[in-house]
Amino acid sequence: MSPFLITRTLPEDATEAALRSDVLHGLTRTPKTLPPKWFYDALGSELFEEITALPEYYPTRAEREILAARAPEIAAATGARTLVELGSGSSEKTRHLLDALPDLHTYVPVDVSASALTQAGRALAAERPALDVHALIADFTGGLTLPDTPGPRLVAFLGGTIGNLLPAERAAFLASVRSLLSPGDHLLLGTDLVKDESVLVAAYDDAAGVTAAFNKNVLSVVNRELGADFDPDAFDHVARWNAGEEWIEMRLRARSAQTVKIPALDLAVEFAAGEELRTEVSAKFREERVRAELAAAGLGLSHWWTDTGGRFALSLGTAR
Ligand code: SAH
Ligand code: AVI
Repeated sequence: MSPFLITRTLPEDATEAALRSDVLHGLTRTPKTLPPKWFYDALGSELFEEITALPEYYPTRAEREILAARAPEIAAATGARTLVELGSGSSEKTRHLLDALPDLHTYVPVDVSASALTQAGRALAAERPALDVHALIADFTGGLTLPDTPGPRLVAFLGGTIGNLLPAERAAFLASVRSLLSPGDHLLLGTDLVKDESVLVAAYDDAAGVTAAFNKNVLSVVNRELGADFDPDAFDHVARWNAGEEWIEMRLRARSAQTVKIPALDLAVEFAAGEELRTEVSAKFREERVRAELAAAGLGLSHWWTDTGGRFALSLGTAR
């Protein structure tokens, strides 16, 4: 078995402090919001994996198709010796890259979900004895410090997770990724593309209700971590296309007027009947926007690949 190291870059009490701050600020503003990173406790990570197999949720299959077809080109263009993957989750699609990169020395999966990282990291280290796997439990928006490993470096950010950041957060995030790269290093970015509203809404409101359970899971996280008394059954899952912003919004709509107590914050939060709490945006992109946002961060768009259905894109950005 190859070395498998897992490092928590923030102490657990810092994670709890971040949750308290996000819940306090998000639930005392109008409209109410919560950041999507809190979906991913062990159950949330499992529910996300279930989502990726749903008939309506095309992004994972589309991105896998591109990775399978283009991994040799990605390997040739990057020559990566270190692969850093942000929001790596199960690392399942990443296997196409790991198989294709002939000189890969170290894989650094980075995720807030300790359970997903541990499972994926252990399996990879057992399967690939020659590969160093150094997993980081960290927030990818929080200024990462990476282990000192050989270059060239390739940072992968797959799944369309960049769409879960708001535009200003995206700009700051891309600038921070650029600061991790030396000239000639690369960012491999997965982005879901703008398409017919009915296809998008179905992907976020599946018939089996898995996305609804994933959405409501954030309430269970706040209950468990902060002693709150949210009743997940008192909220409806809502997925809506915002055509102006070109993003899907996931919301939780209060079925009736209610008060939720959050003892750890000494807070009581009032919901009016029908009031909506926004839990996630999932932005959908066009090539020009990706090119412009990469350029603003000092990355040139070297390749743009889509699946055969034109639903999803992988971009290769080169650090200037
Ligand atoms: N890349 C995988 C997983 C995508 S799900 C795929 O394409 O299938 C999004 C992943 O990002 C989850 O594993 C979640 O835990 C992680 N994540 C979300 N916000 C994060 C943050 N701020 N910092 C680090 N990881 C985060
Ligand atoms: C992780 N991320 C890219 C997913 C998405 O599609 O925005 C999260 C998700 N939310 C609902 N379904 C899946």
